[in-house]
Amino acid sequence: MNQPATAAQITKAPAAPAYVNHSGLKAWVAEIASLTKPERIQWCDGSREENDRLCEEMVAAGTLIKLNPQKRPGCFLARSDPDDVARMEDRTFVCSRNKEDAGPNNNWVDPAEMKATLNGLFEGCMRGRTLYVIPFSMGPLGSPIAHIGVELTDSPYVVVNMRIMTRIGRKVLDVLGRDGYFVPCVHSIGAPLAKGEKDVSWPSNKEHKYIVHFPETKEIWSFGSGYGGNALLGKKCFALRIASIMAREQGWLAEHMMIVCIETPEGRKHYVAGAFPSACGKTNLAMLIPPKVFKGWKVTTVGEDIAWIKPGKDGRLYAINPEAGAFGVAPGTSEKTNPNCLAAVTHDTIFTNVALTPDGDVWWEGMTKEPPAGLIDWKGRPWTPDSKSKAAHPNARFTVHSSQIPSVDPDWENPAGIPISAFLFGGRRTTTVPLVTEALDWQHGVYMAATMASETTAAIVGKVGVVRRDPFAMLPFCGYHFGDYFKHWLKIGASLREPPRIFGVNWFQRDAEGKFVWPGFGENMRVLKWVIERCEGRVEAVKTPIGLQPRYEDMEWQGLDEFGPGRFKKLMEVDPEQWREELKDHGKLFEKLKARMPQELEQQREKLRQAL
Ligand code: GTP
Ligand code: SPV
Ligand code: MN
Repeated sequence: MNQPATAAQITKAPAAPAYVNHSGLKAWVAEIASLTKPERIQWCDGSREENDRLCEEMVAAGTLIKLNPQKRPGCFLARSDPDDVARMEDRTFVCSRNKEDAGPNNNWVDPAEMKATLNGLFEGCMRGRTLYVIPFSMGPLGSPIAHIGVELTDSPYVVVNMRIMTRIGRKVLDVLGRDGYFVPCVHSIGAPLAKGEKDVSWPSNKEHKYIVHFPETKEIWSFGSGYGGNALLGKKCFALRIASIMAREQGWLAEHMMIVCIETPEGRKHYVAGAFPSACGKTNLAMLIPPKVFKGWKVTTVGEDIAWIKPGKDGRLYAINPEAGAFGVAPGTSEKTNPNCLAAVTHDTIFTNVALTPDGDVWWEGMTKEPPAGLIDWKGRPWTPDSKSKAAHPNARFTVHSSQIPSVDPDWENPAGIPISAFLFGGRRTTTVPLVTEALDWQHGVYMAATMASETTAAIVGKVGVVRRDPFAMLPFCGYHFGDYFKHWLKIGASLREPPRIFGVNWFQRDAEGKFVWPGFGENMRVLKWVIERCEGRVEAVKTPIGLQPRYEDMEWQGLDEFGPGRFKKLMEVDPEQWREELKDHGKLFEKLKARMPQELEQQREKLRQAL
């Protein structure tokens, strides 16, 4: 596929539109075009017309299926290649000059060697396709905490998704001006088209996939995949991996966290940020609807995947959601589990890898008890409940603008951010980790977050259900050595006058039959209420060897009658045997990170050992 270019095939970069005044940007686009040799270059203005035209073209090409406009107006379904369905951690690289800086938590290749590999792959890789130029802003346009990137891509699917997930187009260039700073992001699906060659509906590169970050030059290069975090480079690549590096340099935090606002019946607002690994409940918690008994309480959504957090002049932490939309997990989303989310995706939504109903609507596992008849699965094949595989891919997703979420917080675009009262950290743990545990102080909280673990999910290519340490839910996203990252968290905490309280949670304990013990979803409000009351200093807590826990009588149980003190006790159990095993595993993690582990966390581990 990747034949060398003949002189006649080499594209002469056409002039940029008159409104582009940034000579550095123009020169860079020309440089990438001369490397990748697209048929044409299109500067995206971000308009509705441009979006509609791209969608029409993708429908004609078979990349998108237009859904029934009566049932889902403005909605489309995309079916990816079955080999391109999730993030690929083993193909993700951080190429710092020193290997040590990337840490054992990242795949590393020498930057010069990686550049050479990428040059080979990108040479002529856009032949026969359009190179789209997408200027985008992470964070509200022009806000002092926002950062600008420009993604060059040969995927129109990426363009229409970036338009939902970020703020794109001409207005971004206005902010960038003549010489503003931007993070350069180059993306190709890696599937050049020869003259007359027929395209496929989801082109990608079967042989080569690379998602590469260069920390020193803050460049992102992604090749071979068109899916999610591999391709929408504003998300994990920029807003987490590169931003985590910028944050360390500049004294802030870039985190894999949802942000939710909880307002008490008396009108006091608390913003809670929570880090949970991929497909472990951030979107659901951010859009939670409290059970009936919580009369007068209000829950609103600021963010559902990423938070940028900065110390304010008043000694508190302030967070913004750098994104403008959600790329959320479809399976499991239902009227029962997440009605806000279901209401958000009724119009102007892009669905990827869900099932199609005969009347042009969508379906996925968990949406309704009974699947509708006559389904077409995510691979385009007829599907019945007897089929061996799932109708929707377990990592099927929807892309929807935040403004469509009924529970969206009035301050979700406030450029000053909102003050954080508490941090939650939680993974999927069948056993060992109690429903909720409060850290004794900031250092202990950092220890809890640094040692958290979770079972892997379908959000990443690989084996599902394997327990692994996932510090701060950032294992795939921290752009530098975890030891340095822990030090950075300790340093930020020490600089605060009012550090948020830190809590560990686990919604995912299972019984011997494999059933979830805790009902989760809206019922998580019962834990959030206790968290808020702790922040307000209104309730006592019980000390255990691993931290502080609620007393049974301090939690709201009305409407959840099956939860007597006995079952509650079981959910809160700290089994010394299991925790000694846990401690050993913490030790293994620390051993791996030894070269840069902060002393404070070693001391925390010793304290825990003694407490057990
Ligand atoms: P990413 O977008 O991958 O970062 O995922 P996320 O952390 O936003 O996870 P999300 O809220 O989309 O939930 C992922 C899966 O976990 C879905 O299938 C949910 O239905 C399920 N889930 C979410 N919250 C809960 C909960 O409280 N209990 C249980 N049992 N499942 C949950
Ligand atoms: C995650 O995996 O944490 C996601 C999905 O949010 S993706 O955007 O594909 O990274
Ligand atoms: Mn995520």
